[in-house]
Amino acid sequence: MSYNSIFQKIYNQLQEIPITGKVANYIPELGKVDPNKFGAHLATIDGEHSFLGDSDEKFSIQSIAKVFSLAMAYKQENEKLWKRVGVEPSGTSFNSLLTLERDQGIPRNPMLNAGALVVCDVLVSYLDNPKAEFLDFVRKASGNDKLDYSYDIAESEKSMSYINTSLINLMKYYENIDNDLNVVMDFYFSLCSIEMTCKELAISFLFLANDGKNPYTKERIISASKTKRINAIMQLCGFYDQAGDFSFKIGLPGKSGVGGGIVAVHPGKYAISVWSPRLNKQGNSNRGMYFLEKFTTETEYSIF
Ligand code: DON
Repeated sequence: MSYNSIFQKIYNQLQEIPITGKVANYIPELGKVDPNKFGAHLATIDGEHSFLGDSDEKFSIQSIAKVFSLAMAYKQENEKLWKRVGVEPSGTSFNSLLTLERDQGIPRNPMLNAGALVVCDVLVSYLDNPKAEFLDFVRKASGNDKLDYSYDIAESEKSMSYINTSLINLMKYYENIDNDLNVVMDFYFSLCSIEMTCKELAISFLFLANDGKNPYTKERIISASKTKRINAIMQLCGFYDQAGDFSFKIGLPGKSGVGGGIVAVHPGKYAISVWSPRLNKQGNSNRGMYFLEKFTTETEYSIF
């Protein structure tokens, strides 16, 4: 069966399941998105594409951007990075303060907000112009120089940043943040505000399906060994307190964002993205999870 017909089959099944879940509105700007949007796009490393629904509409990638910031910081810092952030699943929500106190300011992993804030601090320390250079990195990884931040979304998040402010203050107390807290947070909100379509998102993750090289532009983004490790982190930590469930049902490394996007990678084959803004209680897209579970079940492809 072709990817296109599998996409269509699952899309039809989706119309039969009850509509549940809520759009994230703790970032006021995200609350304005139509909850019933749905798009998906599959891009193979050989250049094959399948897509459906609202796959050409931009949305806020939010935490998915943490994978790019991790790749950029890991490239720079090498194994030194792991002194400041761990690689263990947390079993907690994305913005939890719980383990951070117990672990004395060392976040369990870089997919958590706390871990991503440390990664941002690393980038602020060595980049002259973090926002511009980070955007260049994402554009290069994607082979797409039109990608951009949404300043409305970044500002909207900043206006309600009470939990992230608590996380970064706790880490500063434990001396795991070197730079000015507002500068680091401002950079973090910007990277979360990047907007992409499903197509752009799938293509931008293809380097992780291709040993660190964008298969279309042939540009090397990171080494094969670092690619392996980033995929391992996504597998274990990409869905927070639902990481086990995602692994169990979908069987691929992936990353979610509270904008309703999910991207998953099949090393050696493809990257697939889904966007549906209604979230479950762990902050992951309900229909996105459903679609990907059906997809890897129907294709009988997963890394396991
Ligand atoms: O820091 C936040 O809360 C958001 N900018 C990102 C959270 C997020 O996307 C969690 N993922 N599902």
